[in-house]
Amino acid sequence: MVFGLRTIIQSIVTMAQPKVVFVLGGPGAGKGTQCQRIVKDFEFVHLSAGDLLREERAKPGSEYGELIESYIRDGKIVPVDITCSLLERAMQESGKNKFLIDGFPRNQDNLDGWNRRVASKVKLLFVLYFDCPLEVCTNRCLSRGAAGSGRSDDNIESLHKRFNTYTSETKPIIDYYRNLNLVQQIDATKSADDVYDAVKQAFLELGASGDI
Ligand code: C5P
Ligand code: MG
Repeated sequence: MVFGLRTIIQSIVTMAQPKVVFVLGGPGAGKGTQCQRIVKDFEFVHLSAGDLLREERAKPGSEYGELIESYIRDGKIVPVDITCSLLERAMQESGKNKFLIDGFPRNQDNLDGWNRRVASKVKLLFVLYFDCPLEVCTNRCLSRGAAGSGRSDDNIESLHKRFNTYTSETKPIIDYYRNLNLVQQIDATKSADDVYDAVKQAFLELGASGDI
């Protein structure tokens, strides 16, 4: 009886624990596009670390505005305490408990900060990794820039820096999660519809296993 009660309490605690899917992939791999679709079908809250940093940069009088702009233009990763605070605040303010965290953790500093501040309070379901060759990513970002994304980093010079950061700093994080068997790898070269077919499958499987 006591064990039964403990099991029930444990499952209530697990149910209440926020659930997180990290979404990673190179610049232009389609993280944002796919996240918008997942939100519609599976009721996750989409939190893009890049979008949160851009929002913070745009706030008049933001203490970190200039620092963020210089990091973004140089394709460098902003110190984790800034990014993690923005993520934690957005998670709390949403009042929800299923999150797609897009573009994070991008390097070892991001990962360490997350592990120090948040990891034990949430359940990481998996890491959705959009695998896409650099040429395809470059073309997508340049088209996005030409179509008026307004982003100060959708130009060839910033893109080179972003790809370098991605290869040297983000890829090892993906490998770290792959070793933990937590990576769902998706071929992101196809059309957005085709990519989403594979993404949807991964989330349907989560649903079937009772994880969401
Ligand atoms: O993900 P997105 O392409 O929108 O990120 C744009 C830029 O925001 C990155 O190149 C980086 O400078 C910054 N960023 C960061 N830390 C993150 C995510 C994004 O510094 N975790
Ligand atoms: Mg994005």
